[in-house]
Amino acid sequence: MTWILFSFLFLWYMFVPFVLDLANAQRLKVGFYAKTCPQAETIVKKVIVQTLSKSPTLAAPFLRMHFHDCFVRGCDGSVLLNSSTNQNEKNAFPNLSLRGFQIIDIAKSALEKACPGVVSCADILALVATDVVATIKGPSWEVETGRRDGRISNITEALLNLVPPNANISTLKKDFQQSGLNVKDLVVLSGTQTPCNIWAKCKPGDLNTIVEMDPGSFKIFDEDYYTLVAKRRGLFQSDAALLDDTETKAYVKLQATTHGSTFFEDFGVSMVNMGRIGVLTGNVGEIRKQCSRVN
Ligand code: HEM
Ligand SMILES: *[C@@H]1O[C@H](CO)[C@@H](O)[C@H](O)[C@H]1NC(C)=O
Ligand SMILES: *[C@@H]1O[C@H](CO)[C@@H](O)[C@H](O)[C@H]1NC(C)=O
Ligand SMILES: *[C@@H]1O[C@H](CO)[C@@H](O)[C@H](O)[C@H]1NC(C)=O
Ligand SMILES: *[C@@H]1O[C@H](CO)[C@@H](O)[C@H](O)[C@H]1NC(C)=O
Repeated sequence: MTWILFSFLFLWYMFVPFVLDLANAQRLKVGFYAKTCPQAETIVKKVIVQTLSKSPTLAAPFLRMHFHDCFVRGCDGSVLLNSSTNQNEKNAFPNLSLRGFQIIDIAKSALEKACPGVVSCADILALVATDVVATIKGPSWEVETGRRDGRISNITEALLNLVPPNANISTLKKDFQQSGLNVKDLVVLSGTQTPCNIWAKCKPGDLNTIVEMDPGSFKIFDEDYYTLVAKRRGLFQSDAALLDDTETKAYVKLQATTHGSTFFEDFGVSMVNMGRIGVLTGNVGEIRKQCSRVN
């Protein structure tokens, strides 16, 4: 009897940590490259800081690139893949184009020189997103890494998964829910997206004219978005739609009336949530040598 119990305990202690370990291996973690490429985060940051000092208007497209990547097939770098026939994710919405792909390529080359074949393109986008927000004096958060790169990029999936700017609240909620994000993530992450907030200032009373911020004041990341939306001065219908749900409406009102009391903290949490969408880890996927093409 005792030996049965003993063997049971033995097996338990032998195998449970092993099973837990396997589960952990499938998760992202902060400092994933600490041993394999300790300079990884510094290298990316240097490229981004240098780029933004010369071209500050790239801040927004960089942040948006991570969002578009994550919402289509998970954060797997698929938004970066080129297509000879223009049938990839990056070819969706030609009028609302993403920019800055060459800079991602520059960061990737620097990483390949330092630690060949180690850092994924999907992780570069996640690191770039924090670097951008830090550079414009927004919140900082601990970025998780360990994503691997996908091999498929499909324009139809981008058109299906990225909701249009005239989306209503039910469509927005459904879209975020399908990606594993909640209603709070929706209202928090929306706080970045309008050109009337961080990236440019709206002329008072004129929604259709966006005036680029002057270089001296571009480094701002604040809760203005919620103040504008609360006054029904959001840029898109999808912004106004945030007033059509009790939870998102309450959040908009709270940030608008408390100078964004919890926005910074919430933003970091939701960015981490976004960065976890459909990630490839462990042995799945690959570490691309070049971000614009599969190995
Ligand atoms: C909630 C659903 C969303 C909709 C319907 C939406 C839609 C749009 C549209 C139509 C634009 C204008 C693009 C242009 O003028 O070229 C835009 C810009 C932007 N979006 Fe979103 N977006 C959403 C969520 C997000 C999220 C979650 C993020 C990031 C966390 C984000 C980041 C941005 C940024 C940074 C810009 C400015 C881009 C620039 O100025 O180049 N958006 N969005
Ligand atoms: C991939 O496409 C981008 C534009 O989307 C272009 O700037 C880049 O040069 C292309 N890269 C390669 C390796 O063809
Ligand atoms: C996209 O841009 C083209 C040319 O600038 C224009 O003709 C077309 O109507 C635009 N489409 C949308 C959906 O805005
Ligand atoms: C792209 O995705 C759509 C929708 O999921 C699918 O019907 C189509 O076959 C895919 N195209 C390719 C080339 O895989
Ligand atoms: C929201 O938009 C979707 C897609 O356009 C539509 O099917 C749905 O009926 C709309 N819902 C409401 C409540 O307006």
